[in-house]
Amino acid sequence: MAKIALTGDRPSGKLHLGHYVGSLLNRVQMQETHRLYIMIADVQALTDNFEHPEKIAESVFELSRDYLAIGIDPAKTTIFIQSQVPELTELMVYYLNFVTLARLERNPTVKTELAQKGLETSVPVGFLCYPVGQAADITAFKAELIPVGEDQLPLIEQSNEIVRRFNHTYNTDLLKEAQPLLSKASRLVGIDGKAKASKSLNNAIFLSDSPEDIRTKVFAMFTDPNHARVSDPGRVEENVVFTYLDAFYPDAEEIAALKAHYQRGGLGDTTIKDLLNTTLQTLLEPIRERRQTFARKALCDILQAGTHVARSAAQQTLEEVRRVMGLRYFD
Ligand code: TRP
Repeated sequence: MAKIALTGDRPSGKLHLGHYVGSLLNRVQMQETHRLYIMIADVQALTDNFEHPEKIAESVFELSRDYLAIGIDPAKTTIFIQSQVPELTELMVYYLNFVTLARLERNPTVKTELAQKGLETSVPVGFLCYPVGQAADITAFKAELIPVGEDQLPLIEQSNEIVRRFNHTYNTDLLKEAQPLLSKASRLVGIDGKAKASKSLNNAIFLSDSPEDIRTKVFAMFTDPNHARVSDPGRVEENVVFTYLDAFYPDAEEIAALKAHYQRGGLGDTTIKDLLNTTLQTLLEPIRERRQTFARKALCDILQAGTHVARSAAQQTLEEVRRVMGLRYFD
């Protein structure tokens, strides 16, 4: 039987090329070999956006459009919305008993996020507890594999700790521990060459960017500041154009030859940027066009059907959890 895999994203904006190489391609492949659930984590997104729920609601549709446009197939994969599966919230409440405050405060991912948001001195409890919610997400579907990025490893570890304590406490093997599955692609650098591509740093190329946006971003990319004239020798390390060509151009040998030419001198930035622009336009045009083919109604139908399937799976687990906890009174 195919292994169960679960993953998800917080709906907080559109997906970009960093997501594409970091996780999306991986998921498109996994849907052929695994029983894959993709969760749109709107409840988790609310923990640091609760003042602006409308932003999250809009992103739910953008995110699902991105998934479908890159080839997630709802006939193979269950795409669902976290808030529409209330069983996850109930599970979270039971799991809260298996975590200490100190343990949550030590979670490195949570710590980093609190620092980024300037919340260290006034920590919202909802935010601090989101890892417990994530344990509910993972265990509700009996997921064995969690395809995610490195930043999620402490959350999976914390979930597994809850699983062990729960199973030990009730002398059961009901809950299953999960393994992370890291994608091979390393993090994609942003067009500024300084940090990982991200929406908040405004240095990412989005899957939904227009042809003009793509071109403008490619031509704004950091190359080699000492490569002033075409005839000058240039550096290919830390040169964002070459990093992206390595990631997206199909013929590695051709890129190796171009790099050698650039290092010798005689190859201009405009030439390599033109090549990258064409490469990205070719990659993103069909994705952008496919995005347009999903009307709001079609998205709703897909998400509703997925949520229905996810909900029955979560209901079953919740029923089993209540049973081992002795929370059954009427039969
Ligand atoms: N924490 C993930 C993120 O920040 C989203 C998420 C919520 C998730 N629940 C999950 C990922 C369960 C994998 C498994 O994007």
